[in-house]
Amino acid sequence: MAKEVILTGVRSNAELTLGNLLGAILPLVRLQQQYSGEYQINAFMPDLHSITTPTNYEQLFYRTIDTLRFFEAAGLKLDDPNTLIYRQSYIPAHSELTWILDSFIYYGELSRMTQFKEKSQGQKSVSASLFNYPALMAADILLYDASYVPVGEDQRQHLELTREVAMRMNSRFGNLFVIPKAWDEQVKFNKTGVRIRSLKNPQFKMSKSISDPSGTILLLDNPKEASNKILAATTDSLGNVNYDFKNQPGISNLLQIIATIKNQPIEEIAQYWKGETSYSKLKQAAAELVESVLVEIQTNLKLFSRDEAISVLAKHEFKVRDIANMKLASVQSSVGLRLKNS
Ligand code: TRP
Repeated sequence: MAKEVILTGVRSNAELTLGNLLGAILPLVRLQQQYSGEYQINAFMPDLHSITTPTNYEQLFYRTIDTLRFFEAAGLKLDDPNTLIYRQSYIPAHSELTWILDSFIYYGELSRMTQFKEKSQGQKSVSASLFNYPALMAADILLYDASYVPVGEDQRQHLELTREVAMRMNSRFGNLFVIPKAWDEQVKFNKTGVRIRSLKNPQFKMSKSISDPSGTILLLDNPKEASNKILAATTDSLGNVNYDFKNQPGISNLLQIIATIKNQPIEEIAQYWKGETSYSKLKQAAAELVESVLVEIQTNLKLFSRDEAISVLAKHEFKVRDIANMKLASVQSSVGLRLKNS
């Protein structure tokens, strides 16, 4: 029997942060280490999703390439025979299947998507592709018969819509698609707890967009300066280390950073530091870890050029196109666009 597929979309952000490293990049690297072999892993870059809202078009191409380079630098094995890595726009079947799925997804369903409502709110003009975004995402998943799709809570509704359209088409046309597992059955791969916060405003997520340079560590920051940002992180005046995001978000954020880099359960790290009264010791520990991770990633990044990254992708994409086209062909013949050849 074919291996079950775990499929994950790797968004490319303008500039990757420590939050992206700990929340998305390392989790995928560890997923590969732990599950490759037992599962087939598809990791792809949804570049067509990137243009659903205005973006920096001049930079998009290399942003995608550089995202892959960061994953490699963080330890993702690109030559693992059980991992496929590709750009969405290089596999035309994604776009073609989207159109077909769109004919089986209802306008009302897309209108109910919370992310669409949020992203379109207050915008002067909203693209049709932003509305259609979940159909493209469904195509990303269904083309490869993925069972597991580790995504954050914000993508849950899109996953449920994917299941819905897959079941709808299966009941009309026979077993066309593997139905991805329901949200609750995905927990094994859905380690979504890690949300690194701003070092200055730890009640918010660490992100480029809140534009607080001292609260955000970029993966290309000078490692020494990054370490100084940790040492200067906002904490509290309680003078006692506890893992408690509600009352001690700054301290809890540091514990989270340590746990994620060391790949240890947060409970263990929290237990180890519990009751420590010197915040500077905790900061020192986090700062050293962050500094050494950045040194390692930046060193590796230099060893993996854009040209090499492009040629690795091209090799994968050559294979992936065949896989995707086979599924597309069976859908096309089911809906009458091609003759059935059996
Ligand atoms: N929408 C996802 C996100 O914002 C990215 C994505 C696109 C994706 N297509 C996907 C994730 C398919 C999983 C599967 O994070």
